[in-house]
Amino acid sequence: MKFNIAVLPGDGIGPEITQQSVKVLRAVADRFDHEFNFEEAVVGAAAIDLLGDPLPETTLELCKKSDAVLFGAIGDPKYDNDPSAKVRPEQGLLKLRKELGLFANIRPVRAYESLLHKSPLKPENIEGADMVIYRELTGGIYFGEKSTAEDGKSASDLCTYSVEEIERIAHLAFKAAQERRKKLTLIDKANVLETSRLWRKTVAEISKEYPGVKVEYLFVDNAAMQMILDPKQFDVILTENMFGDIISDEASVIGGSIGLLESASVGTKNALFEPIHGSYPQATGQGIANPIASVLSAAMMLNHLGLKEEAETVRLAVDLSIKLNVCTIDINKDNHYSTERVGDFLESVISDTEGHIVN
Ligand code: IPM
Ligand code: MN
Repeated sequence: MKFNIAVLPGDGIGPEITQQSVKVLRAVADRFDHEFNFEEAVVGAAAIDLLGDPLPETTLELCKKSDAVLFGAIGDPKYDNDPSAKVRPEQGLLKLRKELGLFANIRPVRAYESLLHKSPLKPENIEGADMVIYRELTGGIYFGEKSTAEDGKSASDLCTYSVEEIERIAHLAFKAAQERRKKLTLIDKANVLETSRLWRKTVAEISKEYPGVKVEYLFVDNAAMQMILDPKQFDVILTENMFGDIISDEASVIGGSIGLLESASVGTKNALFEPIHGSYPQATGQGIANPIASVLSAAMMLNHLGLKEEAETVRLAVDLSIKLNVCTIDINKDNHYSTERVGDFLESVISDTEGHIVN
């Protein structure tokens, strides 16, 4: 089959990890006789440097017309330390999410058996942890009205949600729960926030349509603690934009490294696949960044395109690399492989139809 894939490497380690995913996808195309047409475009700080705009029109157009978007990372410290900067790299990603209508960000988190002892958490507490976070992505405080008073002495970010915005992602999360262990946890702050109360009310209403799914409600502060104490209790987590951002970084500790966590951002028309980690500027160009989060995001992309066996092949290759410790320094401190060598290994496993490497 033929697919057009927009590739947005972005900033920092974005280009080097995305390159490994493209390599892996090319191996998949060869093995399964597909045609993937990759087209690259700039976004984030790279796009500001080049065109003065974190999301140039040409990039947006390319994304709109492609079958899927593979996204690297975004962010540059030169903007983080300049509060008065008028344009910021992150605006590129936020606008892209909004323009493409990517309202649901899906972030699976699991504990890999061979990495249990690498997590700072107790192995017996995380063994078997397997959850998926449904983070609302185009609403809430990220997108509410923003202002700073003229005298610079106060600022405001408004948090707003409509019932419709809650419903559309809640249905996706309930459907996912039906296919999994049939438990959904809504994370909110309903003891304080009006928007959270609307989330609870809406989710309670929708839950009637999914009688097989057990619903639990947790305040976000408690949820942050539970994530560390007993992550196995979670199956599907549903939450608003900012809580989802924070909780998912926290949850990455369970997997042993944030460099392993993939995500899919979906809407009604377009879909974008990106690691949950950031641009890791300190590591840029050193060949130490873990490409697996990006490669697993590419596997989610294959699933999304209906290529199930292909996605499974990529996942098995990743499992093997982790089992054999063909890993970057975040996981393999003593004998680490470079970003590129991990990519090469995955490519060779996927191309190895005879099973030489596996056996
Ligand atoms: C993420 C990132 C982004 C977010 C930033 C880069 C805007 O942290 O995808 O989790 O906050 O959504
Ligand atoms: Mn984040």
